[in-house]
Amino acid sequence: MASPLGMPAVPPRTPDPPWRTAWDSALYGPDGFYRHHAPADHFRTSVHGSDLLAEALLGLARHHGLTRVVDVGAGRGELLLGLHRLDPTLDLLAVEVAPLPPGLPDAVGWSAALPERIDGLVVAHEWLDNIPCHVVEVDGAGRPRMVHVDPATGRESLGLAVDDPGVPASVGGWLDRWWSLAGREPGARAEVGSSRDQGWAGVVARLGRGVAVAVDYGHTREQRPPYGALRGYADGREVDPVPDGSRDVTAAVAVDSVAAAVGGRVLRQREALAALGLSAERPPLSLATTDPGEYAARLARASRVADLTAAGGLGTFYWVVSGVGGVDPWPAG
Ligand SMILES: C[S@@+](CC[C@H](N)C(=O)[O-])C[C@H]1O[C@@H](n2cnc3c(N)ncnc32)[C@H](O)[C@@H]1O
Repeated sequence: MASPLGMPAVPPRTPDPPWRTAWDSALYGPDGFYRHHAPADHFRTSVHGSDLLAEALLGLARHHGLTRVVDVGAGRGELLLGLHRLDPTLDLLAVEVAPLPPGLPDAVGWSAALPERIDGLVVAHEWLDNIPCHVVEVDGAGRPRMVHVDPATGRESLGLAVDDPGVPASVGGWLDRWWSLAGREPGARAEVGSSRDQGWAGVVARLGRGVAVAVDYGHTREQRPPYGALRGYADGREVDPVPDGSRDVTAAVAVDSVAAAVGGRVLRQREALAALGLSAERPPLSLATTDPGEYAARLARASRVADLTAAGGLGTFYWVVSGVGGVDPWPAG
């Protein structure tokens, strides 16, 4: 088709979507990253490489007499495989958008959907940070505005102000309560955590009797990242967070807001693992002479626990823990 001046008509540009829409397609659309990529091929989490996290969660389940474990956002089933190795009698279910990976034992069930009701321990390990959010940024006049993004290039533009009637009131409401940008300088940003709150509340609502644990990296009101926490990862390294389906797109979780949505308690991973009996204490040196094999095994274990509890590393991850059906969720009360 040609224009009246004889020039080829340029099709009008489709407006860029807001971040939440682009992010959702990039991870979970038909060509989305998580439809085709195993998390462990791109980054390591605490469930890769050792069964220590599985051991701690097994201790929590046993403390409450729970024999069923549901893992939401289960990756390739690594955590459940660890639990199965430790206790083959457990009833295990992975809830995961990716298809069933080959070679998983029959004892690990696999589903794209949550069960209607869960009696047991429900875990989400590094799931919430992958729930897409709206992103907002303070413009040159000091107004927080919706950030839009070109999915192919990651080029951003500012859309409506968050208090515009065209923006869901929940965006401004969540920001006012949890991550206020009032009075902040141009360029200050936030990810709107209401989608994570709703996501986790939707899981916990299915718990009949049991304990829910969401583990993730995040922040609380006292230490929000001033320019937001949107990141991209691919092939083991950090890359620009372009929502083109080729990479993981993630942002740290406002864990205090998630906890408030489910009446949960927030702990750091190092506190949680210590309460569940995992110690990074090294074995006594004398053991190296009396039983060198045992010494080496205990030293290796202590170093793996140290990795999971490191200050400034995985130890600063958060656990949001809640109990349902009369269960006091935490062994220490
Ligand atoms: C960062 S990975 C974490 C995997 C694993 N839990 C771990 O810690 O290694 C997030 C996982 O959540 C899955 N996921 C995201 N949204 C989901 C949903 N609504 N239902 C089921 N799985 C989901 C993704 O496919 C991906 O495997």
